[in-house]
Amino acid sequence: MVTTRLIKIILITIGVIGLAIFAYMYFQGEHKKESRNDIKEEYEKIEQSKYPGVDIITKTSDEKTYHKAIHYPKFKEQPLNDEIKNYVLKVEQNFHEELDKHDAVYLQEHPAQYYLTFKIYPVMDELYSIVFYEDGYFGGANSRLSNKVFLVDLNSNQFIKQSEILQVTKESREKIYKLLYNAFKQSEQYSAFLNEDYLKEWVEQENNKFSNMFLTNQSVVFKFDKYEVTAGAAGMPEIELPFDQVRDILSEKWVERLNVKGDMSNDESSEANNDVSEVKPREESEKNLAANGKRVALTFDDGPHPKNTMKILDLLKKYDAKATFFMLGSRVDFYPLIAKRVAEEGHELGNHTWNHKDLTTLSSESIEQEVNDTSEVILQVTGQKPTVIRPPYGATNKQVEAVLNLPSILWTVDTMDWKTHNPQAVLEEVRDNVQDGSIILMHDIHESTVAAVELVLKYLEENGYTCVTVSDIL
Ligand code: NI
Repeated sequence: MVTTRLIKIILITIGVIGLAIFAYMYFQGEHKKESRNDIKEEYEKIEQSKYPGVDIITKTSDEKTYHKAIHYPKFKEQPLNDEIKNYVLKVEQNFHEELDKHDAVYLQEHPAQYYLTFKIYPVMDELYSIVFYEDGYFGGANSRLSNKVFLVDLNSNQFIKQSEILQVTKESREKIYKLLYNAFKQSEQYSAFLNEDYLKEWVEQENNKFSNMFLTNQSVVFKFDKYEVTAGAAGMPEIELPFDQVRDILSEKWVERLNVKGDMSNDESSEANNDVSEVKPREESEKNLAANGKRVALTFDDGPHPKNTMKILDLLKKYDAKATFFMLGSRVDFYPLIAKRVAEEGHELGNHTWNHKDLTTLSSESIEQEVNDTSEVILQVTGQKPTVIRPPYGATNKQVEAVLNLPSILWTVDTMDWKTHNPQAVLEEVRDNVQDGSIILMHDIHESTVAAVELVLKYLEENGYTCVTVSDIL
């Protein structure tokens, strides 16, 4: 009897303790939820990319002191996502730590900007290179923060290490150095900026496992940080080496897997060839794809805008489309990072004056100032001068034209996006008026234009148009 009672008491005690633990955990959970709600609303969406098995997560937030836009891929398998997410959270946290070091009042007038984006390079079926680009701007100081490369194999749901693909021996390091050295020297863009000693040191370091290397479907690409092996003016060089040049530095397994041609017995001659063979910048080979067929120039005025221009850039990327952005100097000054992104993604930079005044009402001196200040700030922020100008309202005359030192570009299709704010109406304007060589006018400051751009890009693609820059058309 006594034992049964004792057992009962023990059971009840265990029950009570269990309940207490459960209640504690429950309230902890509630508490966590509450504190999570303290975080300001963020905009987040998931979209399918054009690559099977890869979705794109976009997270943006606009606060008084900063604008943030983060893009990263999502796969079906959780372990892959965890590793990517860890990286994203880490760099995001670094940004917020950096932000905390800056004066909040100053930031309210000059919001910090942060963006993390990535490119997907399909290598072969279910094998992708994911290349992250991180950029931050803190009131005056513009810094590219880091690079990160992931090689993802969706067949085995694993990341592939660069050291599996490359041979990492002393001899192969010498070969890698030679290949990179030659490629740098042949590159118009980078040759003047290479520091050979830095490159040699970098390649020879034993702990260098070439984690900056990624694959495309035809080449091996080495992506360098700013100042890593070049002067700062070179930015972050990407050196592309076609597969047939790199057979010697690949592991046997990957020579096979990538189906790299070239016979071992030809090695000597192919190595000798490396010294003279041309390394094509990647943009050129991309351009060649779009050489024929109907072309249109999408043009965007009055930006950049922290949210909408970013979204339009994402869409242009998704459709492999190029456009021309006629930007206001005053807004480039305010959103330099977005202007920089426009330039970096290969779109044409246009001058739309500083303050959007009707130039026909101004003195020559004032016109000059409106135009030159804008070109100046665009150059400062992007490293490139604008190549075309569009006078606000399309208002121009002989006096204005005499002052403008850039080709003055109007348009042939006015979508009236600023007036209708109706994506469907914008699409109809395009559909009714577009032809080979059209210059289409839109405004990247309106949210409705973002939706319109998606419809228009889809329509143009389906109807055999390639979107190019204004200068490509002229
Ligand atoms: Ni305008």
